[in-house]
Amino acid sequence: MKNFKRILSVVLCVCLLTTSSIGFAYAEDATSGAPTRVSVVVNGDTSSSRGFCWYTAQQADTKIEFEGVDASAYTVKDVVCEEWEGNFMHKLVVTGLEAGVTYTYRVGDGENWSDWGTFTTDNGDDKVSFINIADVQASDYEGFMKGADTLTAAFATLPGADFVSNCGDFTNDSTNEEWDAYDKAFAALNRTYTLAPVSGNHDGLGVEYWFNNMFALDTSESVQVKDGVNYSYDYGNAHFAVLNTNDLLSISYAQLKWLENDMNSTDKDWKIVFFHKAPYSLGKDAKWPDALYLQKSLTKVLDECNVDMAFYGHDHQYIRTKPLTDNKIDENGTTYVLSGTAGGKRYEVRPFLKNHFLDEDFIDRIVIQREGVGFEKEEYIGGCFEAVEINGDTLTLKTYIVNDATGETILVDEYSVTKKLGENKATFDGDNTTSELEYILGVVPSFLGLAVYALGEWLPEFLSLVPELLYSVIKYDVF
Ligand SMILES: [Fe+2]
Repeated sequence: MKNFKRILSVVLCVCLLTTSSIGFAYAEDATSGAPTRVSVVVNGDTSSSRGFCWYTAQQADTKIEFEGVDASAYTVKDVVCEEWEGNFMHKLVVTGLEAGVTYTYRVGDGENWSDWGTFTTDNGDDKVSFINIADVQASDYEGFMKGADTLTAAFATLPGADFVSNCGDFTNDSTNEEWDAYDKAFAALNRTYTLAPVSGNHDGLGVEYWFNNMFALDTSESVQVKDGVNYSYDYGNAHFAVLNTNDLLSISYAQLKWLENDMNSTDKDWKIVFFHKAPYSLGKDAKWPDALYLQKSLTKVLDECNVDMAFYGHDHQYIRTKPLTDNKIDENGTTYVLSGTAGGKRYEVRPFLKNHFLDEDFIDRIVIQREGVGFEKEEYIGGCFEAVEINGDTLTLKTYIVNDATGETILVDEYSVTKKLGENKATFDGDNTTSELEYILGVVPSFLGLAVYALGEWLPEFLSLVPELLYSVIKYDVF
């Protein structure tokens, strides 16, 4: 009996020690001093530079190290440690990395480190591939896991993806609790790829500065950072611009000018734009003027600058348009992709919007992710992602649904564009920053542009669809 008690106490001690050591080593535990919410984002030259952001509960040093790489081989700059909403935000930018190398890194204060993560720099060839997701917009761990499962399936489908674009609405309310739940679900994934984040309305409107404080982006050309960030980067033979559609409720003149200059400053053969609010959609928010104004304002710039494809979110369903120029079908125009939601919050189609704010002929493929109006197949009930590959003169887009019930990844759209290379010329070589004064001077004209559209075009069209809207409410309970 005595021996049994001794053995029992030894076993209990071993169990307690093991449990406590596991707890101490758990890098995502905010109370341990180890970093949380770690992200690696595009920042400057994608072949040699990345931005890193993370959080700690207490004030701590802001450090990074790379496995097997001497600190003299790269430069750390723009180091920031600031209190934000009760925690400490850390940011830094690493430059001087080698092209085409997979780096293993960790961040922390020198004693408390994150788990090791990886990312790969652009190797300089003319190929690029990326995963696009949008609108996880969850509030709790289970909701975020739906998005994380979709992203896991996306990497299984396109394992060599160079980066991930997230077209916004990361969380529902941008609170500490939600970002921690997001982190708990996504942390292991987020340490292993380069992210190009887009600010959604849930990331920027009414929750100012949250988006900029979650990602170490290059904000040097952003027209503002209060409710989102606009920036651009090259990868392979493509130029990518990321827009902020929270800017003066939609998009400011300053940002449109920035986009025009930015797109005219590249001779890359492919031009792609990411943003959040949806100009072409049949979803819940496709009846409001802030998003629809983009049909008037943003699409003009995309037309003028020969943008090949635009990805956006906001409306939680998948629509790919035929190529459009000046709001008309044109085989040389821009293809618009409403990304579908990677998460569990999904919208029905709004039939009353057809041929009012979106010409039915424009739609080349539509996939509704929940039962209701316009719904076709059980397999479409699941999270959505796009896998995009650009190889020389061909862009291939494949869209998938990860079925909720079976976990199966189902191809729901396939589309490719081939183009003549060498036609884009860089015609802008100036300063593309916007001063605070320039931005302020543009506020009134920007709001006037939106107001003129809303009163002159949107309102009469909206009033004309009210009877159909009421019918939809009565028949389908869909507003
Ligand atoms: Fe949204």
